[in-house]
Amino acid sequence: MEEISKGKSPFYPGQPVPVELFVGRADQIDRIMKRGVNQVSQGKPVAIYVQGEYGIGKSSIAGFTQRLAEKEYGVHGIYATLGGAKDITDVTKAVLEATLRSGAFNPTRSDKIRNWLAKYIGEQKLFGFTINAEALKNDAPNFSTPFGMLDFLSEIIEHLKDTGVKGVFLVLDEINGITADPQFSHFIKGIIDTNALAATPVPLLLMICGVEERRREMIQKHRPVERLFDIVQIDALTEAEMKEFFQRAFTSVNISIEDFAMSFLTRHSAGFPKIMHLVGDAAYWIDKDNIIDGMDAALSVITAADDVGTKYVDQQVYKALKSKDYQSILSKIAMLGPAEMNFTKEQVASKLTEMEKGKFNNFLQRMMKLKVIRGGEIRGEYIFNNRMARLYIWLESSRKVPKNKSGGELSKNK
Ligand SMILES: Nc1ncnc2c1ncn2[C@@H]1O[C@H](COP(=O)(O)OP(=O)(O)OP(=O)(O)O)[C@@H](O)[C@H]1O
Ligand SMILES: [Mg+2]
Repeated sequence: MEEISKGKSPFYPGQPVPVELFVGRADQIDRIMKRGVNQVSQGKPVAIYVQGEYGIGKSSIAGFTQRLAEKEYGVHGIYATLGGAKDITDVTKAVLEATLRSGAFNPTRSDKIRNWLAKYIGEQKLFGFTINAEALKNDAPNFSTPFGMLDFLSEIIEHLKDTGVKGVFLVLDEINGITADPQFSHFIKGIIDTNALAATPVPLLLMICGVEERRREMIQKHRPVERLFDIVQIDALTEAEMKEFFQRAFTSVNISIEDFAMSFLTRHSAGFPKIMHLVGDAAYWIDKDNIIDGMDAALSVITAADDVGTKYVDQQVYKALKSKDYQSILSKIAMLGPAEMNFTKEQVASKLTEMEKGKFNNFLQRMMKLKVIRGGEIRGEYIFNNRMARLYIWLESSRKVPKNKSGGELSKNK
């Protein structure tokens, strides 16, 4: 068949999802809007910790609710990623830069911000501007105290007041590198407490996105952090939500998807948005006739498995998981389900052949050594340390599918 030229893929494996393709999370959005944004728009400060595993959709829900807040509540969104931040000055630098880049969906607001903060702009470019690093570095320390930061945030509102802005929605994302620093916990608590005690608090929604361990780490560094945040938990998507996602994404590029292929894709995505996008993207490129059928779906899951294995799993672990000796044992672990993070030795052993049983102890030792699994609380229990490795095993097990009795369903019948 003649190859059709491909347009733009509707899948975004490495980026927060665009609003049109955002699915699910109704309860969490409702909570953020009602208890967060709406309160802030009426002048009451709120702090929220968006908590969930890697790749589960924290940044996406932050972006989605920021958009809503800007459009419907006059709450101005600032999205700062703290990826490279090593100390509080770096954190404030990131907030300053994020402020400069804020207002993308409202040109009047972004113009006002840029005029006000013009001295931090280096060069004007065709697609935006560069940052004047020197000026940023010199001034950042002024904002590096709770008072300094709150003054800065209240000035933002002051400058945007006549565009209908009533509050600020500040997101601090990618906090992994900074939570070990006790100063960070103190800084965040300082901002929240100082603001709460102020005669006229800054209407601030402070949202931090991270995995549970990072929140615990912040608490460990400074105990009172424990009571600061309303926690919004992000978990796996439901089957119906995944279906809606694939349907919307494929329809947007005029591709249809057969029922069996749909259930194959959702089954292997296992509720994990990151996997959904990887699998969907693979299917988009594999498809040749604008219909995703079983064979396209099976191939795309295998492609996504390789992708997950090479990009998201430690290379030593990946090699071990690929080894022929362990393949059959791994496929039996996969059978326990995609999301099961623990298993018992007994549970798996009961499914193994004599030959596999002979290798099982060795396998467990090796996986423990590579830190893929760790011992659980009860004897004979093991827990996966890494969700991506676990999902890789699950995706990889789909290779077995064409060989068994469901193979017929996978053949092209068009
Ligand atoms: N509600 C959703 N609907 C559709 N796609 C989503 C949704 N949430 C997240 N995604 C997609 O899933 C992937 C992971 O999302 P995101 O980056 O928001 O997760 P995260 O929890 O912030 O990840 P990380 O821990 O890596 O920061 C992205 O490809 C994103 O486009
Ligand atoms: Mg993120």
